Amino acid sequence: MHRPHIFVTRTIPSEGIELLKEHCTVEVSPHDRPLTREELFAGAKDADGILSLLTDRIDSEFFRQAPGIRGVANYAVGYDNIDLAEALRRGVPVSNTPGVLTDATAEMAWALLFSACRRVTESDRLMKSGMWKGWGPMQFIGADVTGATLGIIGAGRIGTAMALKSRGFSMKVLYADAFRNSTLEDTLGAQQVSVEELLAQSDFVSVHVPLMESTRHLLDRQAFGSMKRSAYLINTARGPIINEADLTAALRDGEIAGAGLDVYEFEPKAVDGLSELPNVVMTPHTASATISSRTGMAMKAASNLIAMVTGQRAADCVNPEVYQG
Ligand code: DGY
Repeated sequence: MHRPHIFVTRTIPSEGIELLKEHCTVEVSPHDRPLTREELFAGAKDADGILSLLTDRIDSEFFRQAPGIRGVANYAVGYDNIDLAEALRRGVPVSNTPGVLTDATAEMAWALLFSACRRVTESDRLMKSGMWKGWGPMQFIGADVTGATLGIIGAGRIGTAMALKSRGFSMKVLYADAFRNSTLEDTLGAQQVSVEELLAQSDFVSVHVPLMESTRHLLDRQAFGSMKRSAYLINTARGPIINEADLTAALRDGEIAGAGLDVYEFEPKAVDGLSELPNVVMTPHTASATISSRTGMAMKAASNLIAMVTGQRAADCVNPEVYQG
């Protein structure tokens, strides 16, 4: 019997590879780095399925170079790296990894929020420099979280988890989303508002929308100008949702107080000047980097891919239209 041939574009937790090996012949990229286009095409050329990362661009050129592909399992909940319309046109199912990284990502949003508003990384740098001269009443004054207003842009799984974790801090919660979120309204008394209202009223704004054409540069100079000067912006979603040059200017000019970022517009680079600012805390797109999340992502991606290359329906298919017709 033909064992489907799978190409995995970078090492992932072994549980996922072992699961794939039960059903398929598996080739894992030997490079511990994002692949070049040529390496991606070469690896996928004779494959039946690919386990891709958010750093792999799966577009029409990819499908031309890998004509045997019958399934794309993205090792991420976001799938803006994949041309879904092209996949659909070719009848190729695509899957993501929802659910398993919800809490880890929401926890990172909180970690960034606290780091930014209580100036944890600035303080850490001072301590490690050996230059601290002792306690001072005016040192590293930050912002209160308890009782403040939290604004959630995008109240899906991760936005909801972020908001629910505010319960210990007695916060007023606002959310902007196309849909009403009765969990947030019933549990927290949260209010659905427009993005404009949310920006104007929130002390902390946390971004949780997917990257789509309608959300690209959703937050720009005008948006930052409408926020409180004392407010903080947190982004654990996708970099291009924020115009990063505008954010850098807003942080530099004190239009907002600070930011906590896990994602960047032009990964792996940050725009010039951003990393020199004291009022931004930056992590390298690691919001889902916990053992259980990454293992869960590996298991989900593997089981979705096995389903796709063996002619079954993938549980987390994001283009289910492929199964009609
Ligand atoms: C995702 O899943 O989309 C994250 O950005 C990576 O875990």
